[in-house]
Amino acid sequence: MKRKAIYPGSFDPPTNGHLDLIERGSKIFDELIVAILRNPEKDPLFSVNERRQMLESMTGGFDNVSVDTFHGLTVDYALRVEAQAILRGIRAISDYEYELQMALMNRKLQPGLETVFMMPAAKYSYLSSRLVREVAQLGGPVDCLVPDLVVQKLREKMDVANKFGGAAGAHESEARSADRAAAERKTKSRKRKS
Ligand code: PNS
Repeated sequence: MKRKAIYPGSFDPPTNGHLDLIERGSKIFDELIVAILRNPEKDPLFSVNERRQMLESMTGGFDNVSVDTFHGLTVDYALRVEAQAILRGIRAISDYEYELQMALMNRKLQPGLETVFMMPAAKYSYLSSRLVREVAQLGGPVDCLVPDLVVQKLREKMDVANKFGGAAGAHESEARSADRAAAERKTKSRKRKS
């Protein structure tokens, strides 16, 4: 039987720590699915599609790794894709309590599914998506913390945010471009009719 695992998370944005774990996971599982949670309650910096594109590009070199998105319970998704394990990273003892709670709840929900913890390289033990977002938003360098592609995407987000002002600028600007495009379409259609 093929050993299949999912690696669920928010990945907002994906970091070198995530990539390190993906590489380790890809060596012990025959198939690994990086599963991005679609969480409508969170207000992410990157859309699910942007995160998916970044992760696909980061994991393109691994034959047995794919990227997917899901919503709802992680255990339900794992069952749907016929995975036997959930992969999670533990960086420091501070992660342990939350991860243990989650693993035991997942076991309660789905006893046949195992959670496998792996440690990323020690050099990534302080690294989190939240800190990367904060450093990038305040103009600090994130070059060694995330892959080049993510550095680039963060720069683009920050440029847009600076242009439109405020931390929410990136999101606002996306909404504004959509509004602008809709308004342009309306004007064109009115012109055609008149
Ligand atoms: O990268 P994150 O934010 O630490 O990932 C957390 C994640 C997505 C693994 C967790 O929030 C999750 O599994 N959410 C899906 C909903 C669910 O199954 N909740 C019960 C978990 S015990």
